[in-house]
Order: sequence, then structure tokens, then C-alpha cells
Amino acid sequence: MSNNVTIFDHPLIQHKLSILRDKHTSSKDFRELVSEIAMLMCYEATRDLPLDDVEIETPICKTTVKHLAGKKLAVVPILRAGLGMVDGMLRMVPSARVGHIGLYRDEKTMQPVEYFCKLPKDIDKRDVIVVDPMLATGGSGIDAVSQIKQRNPRSIRFMCLIAAPEGIEAFTKAHPDVHVYCAALDEKLNENCYIVPGLGDAGDRIFGTK
Ligand code: PRP
Ligand code: URA
Repeated sequence: MSNNVTIFDHPLIQHKLSILRDKHTSSKDFRELVSEIAMLMCYEATRDLPLDDVEIETPICKTTVKHLAGKKLAVVPILRAGLGMVDGMLRMVPSARVGHIGLYRDEKTMQPVEYFCKLPKDIDKRDVIVVDPMLATGGSGIDAVSQIKQRNPRSIRFMCLIAAPEGIEAFTKAHPDVHVYCAALDEKLNENCYIVPGLGDAGDRIFGTK
């Protein structure tokens, strides 16, 4: 597998993911878990963000401390399901900006259809983390990252909860320069391009639309 893919094996993430997959988990719990996992993944995925030295004064003396360098992150959820991960990301990086990309998979062709794109004006000065719980065929993620690349951000990372091998292969081929973070790499896609074993339709489970 490409060394541009990190699979988080942290026990807390794996435990929360196991509850998320269960079909008996309610929408309320599902939403909370998606947010909590995103928060834990954000902590790890931002490990290499650059820091600057800054002089401050504590109540005791002057000292030099570390601050995140430059402008803060931009988090870009892929609508709808990616919205479920935004709150967790913002709890870790409260001053991040949030862009939105609207895409859905056409149920017949499985190709992504774009319906919305609103990104921060100064995205060219920011590191971007694109969030979407599912990387199935990879079509939506590939398309979203291609749109963001047109605006020349400082860097792009892609964070999902569950990926299929087919999606990882397609994504890393299309965007070898974008690091992918996921909590689980599942077995395969089924005939409807759903991830197996997966967790079902992430958007429907977050928003209770089925
Ligand atoms: C889901 C998911 C991803 C996409 C993944 O969204 O949230 O965006 O499918 O599939 P892919 O890798 O094959 O493109 P969906 O199209 O169901 O839209 P929704 O979030 O609005 O429900
Ligand atoms: N989108 C989902 O929400 N779930 C899948 O398994 C595949 C795509």
C-alpha cells in the first residue's frame, strides 16, 4: 500500500468505530461517535503542522513558546456526511476556517455529481483537511480534492473513517501528493458500491433520513 496512507489503530478509535458500525446504534449516538472519532483523528493528523517561536511573558518571566505557524487550517467537509466530522475537528482547532463541497453519488453511475462549492477566500495560505466518513470508489474524494487543488492551498490531507481498498487505490493514484488518514481499511465494495462490512449509508445514519 502507498506510504501516503495512515490507518489509525488507536484502541479508542477502534472501540468507537465498532459501535458506529452496529446497525442498532441510534442516529444520536452515531452523530456523537462520528464527531468524537474525527476529534481523535484530527489530533494525530495534525502532528506535523509547522510551529513558530513566539515570545510571551508568563507571570514569572519572558519566555519563547511554540505557536502554530501562519494561518490556521481549513476544514472542508464533503456534504452531506462530512458535516458530521466538522464539530470534532473544530474542537481541536477552534479557529480553523470551514469550506463546503457538495457532492453526491449518482445512484446509477456511481459517479460524483457536484452541486455546491464554497471555500475560504485565503485558502491558498492554509493547510486543508478534507473530511468525509466514507471512501468507497473514491470518486467523491478525488473530485473534491481536484476542486480544492485549483485554488492552490498550502497542503491537502484527506481524512475518512472507513475506506475500501478500491477507493484507496483510486485516490492515491489520482492524488499521490495527498496523505490519506482513515480509521479502518475494510474488505471490499459490494455490487452497489457500498463498503463491506462498512457501516451502511453514512449520510442517512447521521441525519436519520432512512
Ligand atoms: C457518500 C459518502 C461519500 C461518498 C463515498 O456520500 O459520504 O461522499 O458516498 O463514495 P465514493 O467514494 O464511491 O464516491 P453520498 O453520495 O451518499 O452523499 P450524502 O453524504 O449526501 O449522503
Ligand atoms: N457511501 C456510504 O455512505 N457508505 C458506503 O458504504 C459507501 C458510500
